[in-house]
Amino acid sequence: MDRIRIIGGERLEGSIPVSGAKNATLPLMIASLLTSDTLTLKNVPHLADVNLLSRILGNHGVDMAIAGKRSGQRQGEGDTMHLNARTIADTTAPYEMVSRMRASFWVLGPILARCREARISLPGGCAIGTRPVDLHLEGLAKLGAQVDLEDGYVLARAPKGLIGGRVDFSKVSVGATHNILMAATLAKGETVIENAAREPEVGDVATCLTKMGAKIDGIGTSTLTIQGVDELEGAVHTVLPDRIETGTYAMAVAATGGDVLLDNARPDLLEAALEVLRQAGVEISETNRGLRVVRDGPGLAPIDVETEPFPGFPTDLQAQLMALMALAGGRSRIRETIFENRFMHVQELVRLGADIALEGDTAFVTGVQGLRGAQVMATDLRASVSLVIAGLTAQGETIINRVYHLDRGFERIEEKLGACGARIERLAA
Ligand code: UD1
Repeated sequence: MDRIRIIGGERLEGSIPVSGAKNATLPLMIASLLTSDTLTLKNVPHLADVNLLSRILGNHGVDMAIAGKRSGQRQGEGDTMHLNARTIADTTAPYEMVSRMRASFWVLGPILARCREARISLPGGCAIGTRPVDLHLEGLAKLGAQVDLEDGYVLARAPKGLIGGRVDFSKVSVGATHNILMAATLAKGETVIENAAREPEVGDVATCLTKMGAKIDGIGTSTLTIQGVDELEGAVHTVLPDRIETGTYAMAVAATGGDVLLDNARPDLLEAALEVLRQAGVEISETNRGLRVVRDGPGLAPIDVETEPFPGFPTDLQAQLMALMALAGGRSRIRETIFENRFMHVQELVRLGADIALEGDTAFVTGVQGLRGAQVMATDLRASVSLVIAGLTAQGETIINRVYHLDRGFERIEEKLGACGARIERLAA
């Protein structure tokens, strides 16, 4: 597996193009299963997860093509992808596929809605907690599906089609909201989803579904009302910018010091995170191109943060914030409320010299004068990128092993950071 080598200590200066959001791209690609027409997605990021989902959807019979690059296309601009699910060749998603990417479980709702049956492997364990799918299954049952578990598979059937219903989630779940929302677009009658996730990626999917002919009210709120239609049609949709990538690079600049323009970033997608950075002493301003992040001179102030569903501070930025706070002048408190066990980065950050104490779901981070380079191991997507941030500030050489995780969610990270002066390179396996 590839490794990343970083020599820390350089300030970041320049501009970084923000890619299309991974967490919107995946469900948008899955939405193509809902129509026999072509769905065209623009600004699709180049990520391992996108490639893997392409293979999974290909298995179900979705034809995919990436349009050639136009001359004059800006560096960092994503691909245009055409997806066509004229016929769904296979309503089964096997364990080998779903176990490699949890989000592929979300094909359940669309395949069930379109084909009236679906057999999808349970996703299985995951490094950041148990991550059950009970909310997905309860929701589909409320839409009239008969849901059985057989040999590690979810077998969902609705021989006469799904029927609109009332789904009141006991917990906010991004994935369950995507799944039920997509299924409800083709159900008979009205579906009301209460306590829906308000993450911007859910809004992006709902907007795309509307372009495809779905009738959805309440986009961006926690109550989504869907009037089912007989069929959906093709559409063209541009994926919104990645708020997690934006926040990650903002934290990298905050950690190393510097002045970077995050090109194409949308500050309204990550206000809670930007507010935390401002509290820590980072200068953030909106420009007509995106977001400018500046930190010069004085040290960082410690913070007190809990992860929350949107619009709160995102769990997907928790690890990166912890790397940053490892250098603050004082003691920070970071509580993780979304996923248990999402602290695998802690022991790796400690290897780099961070002072972090864990108490249940809370990390207490006491800032140190500086970190020191070391060999570390990437464990999951967000944890890995927190090690990159730490490595950028650490004295000497940091080698990050198992870079595969980074490639799942961050496009050309070494190029983007390298262009701003970071000494970072990929060491091929
Ligand atoms: C999505 C994101 C992930 C992010 C997470 C929370 C994608 C591809 N992934 O993951 O990056 O960290 O949202 O913002 O968009 N839960 C249940 N039962 C269920 C479903 C979820 O108890 O049926 C729990 C989970 O264990 C977790 C919480 O609900 O504690 C939130 O999970 P969820 O929002 O579903 O996360 P994902 O959609 O998997």
